Amino acid sequence: MDKTISNLSHFEGQEITLKGWVYNKRAIGKIWFLILRDGTGLVQCVVVKGEVDEALFDLEADLNQEDAVMVTGSIRKEPRSIGGYELGVSKIEVVQHVTEEYPIGPKEHGPDFLMSNRHLWLRSKRQNAIIRVRHRIVKAIRDFFDMNEFTLVDSPMFTANAVEGTTDLFEVDYFDRSAYLTQSGQLYGEASAMAFGKIYVFGPVFRAEKSKTRRHLTEFWMVEPEMAYCDLEQDMDYAEKFVAYIVQQCLEHCQAEFKILERDTGKLESIIPPFPRITYDEAVKILHDNGLDFSYGSDFGAPDETLLAEQFDKPVMIHRWPADTKPFYMKRDEQNDDLALGVDMIAPEGYGEIIGGGQREDDHDILLKRIRHHDLPLEPFKWYLDLRKYGSVPHAGFGLGLERTVAWITGTKHIRETIPYPRTLSRLEP
Ligand code: 4AD
Ligand code: MG
Repeated sequence: MDKTISNLSHFEGQEITLKGWVYNKRAIGKIWFLILRDGTGLVQCVVVKGEVDEALFDLEADLNQEDAVMVTGSIRKEPRSIGGYELGVSKIEVVQHVTEEYPIGPKEHGPDFLMSNRHLWLRSKRQNAIIRVRHRIVKAIRDFFDMNEFTLVDSPMFTANAVEGTTDLFEVDYFDRSAYLTQSGQLYGEASAMAFGKIYVFGPVFRAEKSKTRRHLTEFWMVEPEMAYCDLEQDMDYAEKFVAYIVQQCLEHCQAEFKILERDTGKLESIIPPFPRITYDEAVKILHDNGLDFSYGSDFGAPDETLLAEQFDKPVMIHRWPADTKPFYMKRDEQNDDLALGVDMIAPEGYGEIIGGGQREDDHDILLKRIRHHDLPLEPFKWYLDLRKYGSVPHAGFGLGLERTVAWITGTKHIRETIPYPRTLSRLEP
């Protein structure tokens, strides 16, 4: 087992060396404290005059924030200390002494300054905790699909066609022609589902979002399961089981992080299937009954989503949308051809849409008609149409936005803090 701060309970009563950085320090007379961080957590290290040689005791005056240090000492239980353990110092080795003032001090900094120092900001307690929860969410995603016998089938980043409309495509030079950065792996996911049955695609996707909102990135991660022989209802069954599993795994493994983030975990404990399912029409009625001026046939804006989410204590799934609000590939409802068999899942507490998905059009001629109707070039969709020629079956899937999910579960208001190095309209560095 690694000798790290997260594992201290296993080393109680033993003398060990922790390798890390100076997070903070404070002195009171004959005793001083070094708060050490090693990337897995924080621990208070105690130096007592008389118990150590003078040179070590005097080291306090020289130490700066982010000095790289290796600290040796014995581990003891201390319920009042962060993490519940403390290290009684016998030796400190300075690996690198910081001579310039560290840009991120204890004083308040503005978000833009912190984002410009993202490469350093990741070391701070809160940011570190968010990325740790992100790691656990990714693990839960992979475990869920493994347990449910899905195969990971990656899709390409360079593509010749648009998936989610043509307005926010990044176009790049591709030798003597142009290509697009993918907006979603779904179309390849559909091909893969016909080859493997149940699959998932998991990777970064790109959208030239010109809007500056707290929910939009230009590069974000999406996980997209796709299932052959699956309809909209079964798709929603998977979506709720999947999201509930992710939340439960975080509750089981991320309590230390939730404490740092001051996340009210009571709100997460109720995230257990079944989730409420309402139609688009029912959602519009809720908005109107609450006095919102919403015009039937448009997509929900952030305030609409927040009001809808407030009606429930679990994520809500909204299905059967006016076809014009949804992409060309959506299958229409047999009962009403004006409705598309799409579903959006809205997270509680105002975090907005975390899932978009639905059942796909599986008829060749109808799909061809829709591609034409949406004015999309036919050539790059030829392979996609093939799927409707050779053993076409009902199939469905969805895409979960990783960063929006991290934002909701960690209680982080702005999506830019949920990805290590965010890309937005105005930010390409660090
Ligand atoms: O609803 P979207 O656009 O759905 C699709 O792309 C489908 N092709 C997925 C599928 O059926 N396989 O995007 C899915 C999710 C959204 O619900 C949202 O969580 C997230 O991706 N998302 C974004 N996250 C961050 N920044 C953006 N600009 C996002 N756009 C969408
Ligand atoms: Mg959507």
